[in-house]
Amino acid sequence: MPVSRVDQFVRQLDDAGISFERDAMLSRLTTIGLGGPAEVLARPRSRSEVATVVSVAATLDLPVRVLGAGSNLLVSDAGVAGVVLHTGGLDDVRIEENGAVDAGAGCHFPSLVKKTVASGLRGLEGGVGIPGTLGGVLTMNAGAYLFSVGPLVEEVVAVSAEHGLVTMPRESIDFRYRRSSFGHDLIVASARLSLRPDVPATLRAEMDAHMQTRKLTQPVGVKSAGCIFKNPEGSSAGRLIDELGLKGMRVGGARVSEVHANFIVHDGSANASEVLALIDSLRERVFGETHVELETEVMTWN
Ligand code: EPU
Repeated sequence: MPVSRVDQFVRQLDDAGISFERDAMLSRLTTIGLGGPAEVLARPRSRSEVATVVSVAATLDLPVRVLGAGSNLLVSDAGVAGVVLHTGGLDDVRIEENGAVDAGAGCHFPSLVKKTVASGLRGLEGGVGIPGTLGGVLTMNAGAYLFSVGPLVEEVVAVSAEHGLVTMPRESIDFRYRRSSFGHDLIVASARLSLRPDVPATLRAEMDAHMQTRKLTQPVGVKSAGCIFKNPEGSSAGRLIDELGLKGMRVGGARVSEVHANFIVHDGSANASEVLALIDSLRERVFGETHVELETEVMTWN
């Protein structure tokens, strides 16, 4: 019997001592708690293991998708073929006294924020409510209120199939609204940030205030995938949907949040198809009534 490419892939991962799981349910690895299995979930624990996963997959012509905290992601109910590279094992953090922070792509961002604040370092406190990983925050150029990660970056170590591990200084990285130089063919493995010393109590108070604002304006602690649509230029997707009276609109178990209209939430009873159908309905309603074409911010995998 011929050996499939996925069989060859996992055999090579096994030989390299890299951990993996076959038919791994992605619903437990996304904040919205939905989605089918990944054909193979690779769990590299170091930058060189990331490079190995990427190069072996490229040799076998298998697609690679990167999964961090799964906080801005909607996976179809059928799941995905090929390789999902989970960055959870890349969670090392080293904080130096001069304010330099070296951290792996898989660090949970709110935890990294709390660690740097506790160490008396200013820079990340405004991002405490972003429920992603450092790699996700860099790739999506995630932001919150006035917080933006780009100006704090000193360099990023990334992996591409073509070049393996590459070190990129900030000047060579393009940060734009909700996107950056990183993505499918350039995967963040780790980053070095440059923060400034400040008084821990002051930073903690600012961090708590940011979290409080977030809790008042966004659905926190319920299953969601973050903002569904990008903001159209000069406008807010949430406000547009809200003004059309669509808060609470449902498809099956999926509904538009009553707290912030750019979030779709559910109580555990939805599936991914219902969320996707609700996204389509919202897009159609907004276009029909305002002629604004909403573009999704949430990543969809199918
Ligand atoms: N608004 C409404 N109704 C709503 C939601 C918002 O009228 O249901 C109004 C607000 O009152 C405000 C305006 O719309 O006047 C903008 O709202 P908000 O300050 O909540 O910001 P946003 O533009 O909706 C963006 C980001 C969020 C980020 C917040 C805070 C995008 C798509 N969204 O939201 O990012 O947390 O600003 O900085 O860029 C994400 O990307 O996943 C995300 C949550």
